[in-house]
Amino acid sequence: MNVRVAYYSATGNTRKVAEAMARALGCAATGIDEYPAGPADLLFLGAAVYATHDHGLHAAVKAFIAGLDPAGARKVALFSTGFIQSEAIAMMRRLLEARGIEVVPDSFFCLGRFALFNMGHPNAKELESAAEFAKKTASS
Ligand SMILES: Cc1cc2nc3c(=O)[nH]c(=O)nc-3n(C[C@H](O)[C@H](O)[C@H](O)COP(=O)(O)O)c2cc1C
Repeated sequence: MNVRVAYYSATGNTRKVAEAMARALGCAATGIDEYPAGPADLLFLGAAVYATHDHGLHAAVKAFIAGLDPAGARKVALFSTGFIQSEAIAMMRRLLEARGIEVVPDSFFCLGRFALFNMGHPNAKELESAAEFAKKTASS
C-alpha cells in the first residue's frame, strides 16, 4: 500500500505530528507546497486553523484539496493540532467529501503550542499517540 503524509504547518506543531506519523509509517512527511504528484492509497493530511484565515483553514490547504486528484488519493486520514480543539478536521472532511474523496472516520487531534498557551505541546506522549494512530489506520 502506498501511504503518504502531507501537512500545512505555520508554526511547526502539525509538522511535528506529521513527522511522528511518517516515522511510524516508514515514509516521508511532505509540506503541501512540496507534495509530489502521484497516487496514494492512503494520504494522511494535517492542518490547523488560523485567525488570519477567518479562524479557518489556510488558503493553501483549501487550494491543495481543490487540486487533489481523486484518483491520486484513494483514501484520506485527517489530523490536526490546535489551541483547545480544532474545526480543521471537520472543515477538511467537508471539502474532501465534496470532491468525492473518501475520508476515513477516525482522525487524530492534539494540542499545539500557541504563544504562551499549551507550552510543550505536542509533547512526547501525543507524538507517540499520533504514531499509533497512523500505524493502526494504515493497517486497517
Ligand atoms: C497566527 C495564528 C492564528 C491562530 N488563530 C487561531 C484561531 O483563530 N482559532 C484557534 O482555535 N486557533 C488558532 N491558532 C492556534 C493554532 O491553530 C494552533 O497553534 C495550531 O497548533 C497551529 O498549528 P501549526 O503550528 O502547525 O501551524 C492560531 C495560531 C496562530 C499562529
